Amino acid sequence: MVVKRLKLMNFRSHEGFRVDFEPQTTKLIGRNGCGKTSILEALYEALQGKSFRAVDREILRRGAEFYRVELEYEDGRKVAVVFDGEKKEFLVEDKKTRRLPKKNKYPIVLFEPDDLNLVGSSPTSRRNYFDRVLGQLDEGYSVALNRYNKALKQRNELLKEEMTEVNDMFSWNVLLAKYGVELYEARARAIQEVNERITKTYQSIAENADEVQLEYISEVQDETDFLEKLERNFERDRILGHTSFGVHRDNFEFQFNRVKADGSASRGEVRSLVIALKFIEAEMIIRELRQKPVVLLDDVFSELDEKRQKCLVRNFQEHQIILTSVGEEEMVKVS
Ligand SMILES: Nc1ncnc2c1ncn2[C@@H]1O[C@H](COP(=O)(O)OP(=O)(O)OP(=O)(O)O)[C@@H](O)[C@H]1O
Ligand SMILES: [Mg+2]
Repeated sequence: MVVKRLKLMNFRSHEGFRVDFEPQTTKLIGRNGCGKTSILEALYEALQGKSFRAVDREILRRGAEFYRVELEYEDGRKVAVVFDGEKKEFLVEDKKTRRLPKKNKYPIVLFEPDDLNLVGSSPTSRRNYFDRVLGQLDEGYSVALNRYNKALKQRNELLKEEMTEVNDMFSWNVLLAKYGVELYEARARAIQEVNERITKTYQSIAENADEVQLEYISEVQDETDFLEKLERNFERDRILGHTSFGVHRDNFEFQFNRVKADGSASRGEVRSLVIALKFIEAEMIIRELRQKPVVLLDDVFSELDEKRQKCLVRNFQEHQIILTSVGEEEMVKVS
């Protein structure tokens, strides 16, 4: 057991809600729209410091002035998150902070129905997916990503201004190249690590002999080349109104037996592949952070056949699992 109790106030549709978690598996059952995903979202906030699906203004219950999330860990430690409509604060061990300190974060493996579309979805959703995974594994990755995105936004804004000249771009180009290469290298390392495990993990789920690979597609090479390309593309970017080169254009492609999975793999194969990714994510977290992630399964059981459900439960049996599913009862929990 990692987490013991969660209390919500004015968090989305929940005016007030409290849940005590079971040591092993907690099931949150309720009808559509009753606020099951919101509970996972609140837990994610308290464990990771931010939501996986929205900004705070959207989370704040309509008409309310603040929201509050309180989490109690099994060992008695407590974390509270308060958002007053403007700013968010974390309360940890009687100290107030604007960000959840690294040492007070706890890793999560989140599995949402949307993840099952990962193979055939847009490059943006795959980038977001891997960014979230990598950000949890390495705080430095999140920092670099934030700085990169800020510089990108500034550069794009400048591109749209009439009087902008190539030299005005320089400081943003330098930042983009610096953080871009950092992100590129971290992505390349992580994908290599995924590839070392994915075929074996996939085969154990799908019970076949297919080879799986994840290809990282990026035009990035090194900082000098990055900077040169940004400078060379200036006129073109001005016409386009955005930055056409960089890690924000990277893509990730899944392959079965060296053939692109999108368009050729069956639904079942894709499902097994995504489950394999979740298992690998948990393994990487355990190795890097030496903590056993809490597993959040949002409405995914209904999407999986019995064999894959069993496989999921078996693999995560040593983890605390919190899952949601649609049912008639009003948010009951059974273990
Ligand atoms: N800021 C908000 N204030 C009040 N209600 C909100 C807010 N944001 C979302 N809601 C409501 O919360 C509900 C969605 O909650 P949530 O997504 O957690 O439901 P769910 O139980 O996971 O549903 P499903 O079974 O369809 O996935 C919707 O009815 C939505 O209108
Ligand atoms: Mg939901």
